[in-house]
Order: sequence, then C-alpha cells, then structure tokens
Amino acid sequence: MKILRTVEELRQWSRALRCQPGHTIGLVPTMGALHAGHGSLIRAARAVCQHVAVSIFVNPTQFGPNEDYARYPRSFDADCALAAAEGAEAVFAPSVEEMYPTGAATFVEVEGLGSRLDGASRPGHFRGVATVVAKLFLAAEADKAFFGQKDAAQVALLRRMAADLRFATEIVVCPIVREADGLAMSSRNAYLSPAERAQALVLSRALRHVEELAAHGERRASVLVEAARAVFAGEPAVRIDYIAVADWATLLPVETAAPGTLFAVAAHVGATRLIDNAILN
Ligand code: PAF
Repeated sequence: MKILRTVEELRQWSRALRCQPGHTIGLVPTMGALHAGHGSLIRAARAVCQHVAVSIFVNPTQFGPNEDYARYPRSFDADCALAAAEGAEAVFAPSVEEMYPTGAATFVEVEGLGSRLDGASRPGHFRGVATVVAKLFLAAEADKAFFGQKDAAQVALLRRMAADLRFATEIVVCPIVREADGLAMSSRNAYLSPAERAQALVLSRALRHVEELAAHGERRASVLVEAARAVFAGEPAVRIDYIAVADWATLLPVETAAPGTLFAVAAHVGATRLIDNAILN
C-alpha cells in the first residue's frame, strides 16, 4: 500500500488511475484511530470503486481550544494495517503544514447548517470540517467519498457544501456500525473508563426506545424527545448536550417526525462527548 504525504502525490496517484477507462477512485476521509466502522466505509468503497484511498489527518481546525486535539488517539501503523487489510491501495497522511500552508487564510463556511446541532455546541467545528474536506476533495479528485451516518450533522453539512461548490465527488453515506451491546463505534470510545463505557450505552438505549415509539406511530417530536430524556434520566452521570428531532437536510428542528427525519443525541460521559442518531422511518 502506498503512503502519500503531499497533495501533489495524492493528485498524481488519483489522476494516473482515473485516466484508465472505467477506473474510479473512492476516498475515505478519516482522522485515524481506525475501527470497524472505518473498515465498513473502506469495504463499501471497495465494492463500488476500483481504487480506494484512506486519508488520515487529525485536522486541527475542527477542534476548539479546550477540546481533545492534542490527546486525540493516533495509531498510524495499526491504521495502515487495517486500511490495507480492508483493501485500500493508498493512505494519504499529510502534515498540518501540507494541509494548512503558512499564512493559510481560506476557510469554507456553510452558513446556517454550520451552527446547528454539533455546530452549536462546538463553535467553529464545522468550519474546520468543511474546509479540510473541501481540500481533500480537491486533492483526491475522487469519484465517491464515504462517510458514516454516525456523524449525521456532518453529513448534512458536507452534502450542502458539495452541492453548493458543485464538487464532482459523490458523497456516499454508510450505516452506523455498533458494538455488540449497541454502542456506536467511535475513536473517542477509547477514552471511556469501564464504568463510563457502561454508562455510554444510554445513548443507543434512548435511540432504540424512540425508534420503537416511532414504529408504533408516534410522530410528535416533543413526545419523542421527552421519551429519550426519560431514558437518560436512568443514567444521571451522563450529561445531555442535545436531543434533537430535525430535518436531515437542513438540521432545523421539526415538530412532527416523518420518514427520513433525523433523531440525534449528543451527551457527555465523563470528559468524553459522544454522539449517536437514528433516521426514523
Ligand atoms: O469524520 C471525521 O473523521 C472527520 O470529521 C473528517 C470528515 C475526516 C474531517 O476531518
């Protein structure tokens, strides 16, 4: 597997392959600390693209000043092994200087969406995400890019950005991958102590309860939110950041859930902020 360090190397790699008739490129953007959720994205990319590159870049601009940029898990060798085992042909692992040259002053701001849900709790976060993903799209010139539904607000933001900037890269969203007990896979799960790991199950428990209510016909957002709150109340150590019933395209709150409505939760378990969601049907 090739390790590419510069934008130019990635661009050349992609162009050399794409100029062969019928050869397509899949890009899986990540911040490393790869787990089975990332593995599923790489497999999804392999299933529909001839060549797959995984980017591994802990993007400083999407972390707030008091967030976990410095301690974000970094496991480059293990990440490369997982990417190769899942069938990636290249890993793009640039330096911060490569992605943000000295004096970098250009950022991508998705108005409205950028300050909703996680964007409201983490000011500036989505500006950093949109900026780095735009840079990755421009560098990789991929046919398709693969993201997990777990970051549902990020998906909405990136879909808007890709449409607005008319990127040729198609965004493909893959289902949430869960541990056997329901916890959504996340690189940040590594921060949880055994006690917190048990408490964290309240997120998926609340979502399952809401999905059952919706399946039985409950559509009122206020009732679904209260039902989720009641489940969270059983785990008082976990602090809710938000519980939202929103249109998945705009991230604006809805009063009545419809098929495709996003039900999203974010909560602090100890010092770790976790997110999870369900698309109601
Ligand atoms: O979802 C992530 O891991 C990151 O937000 C992304 C899309 C790789 C951008 O840094």
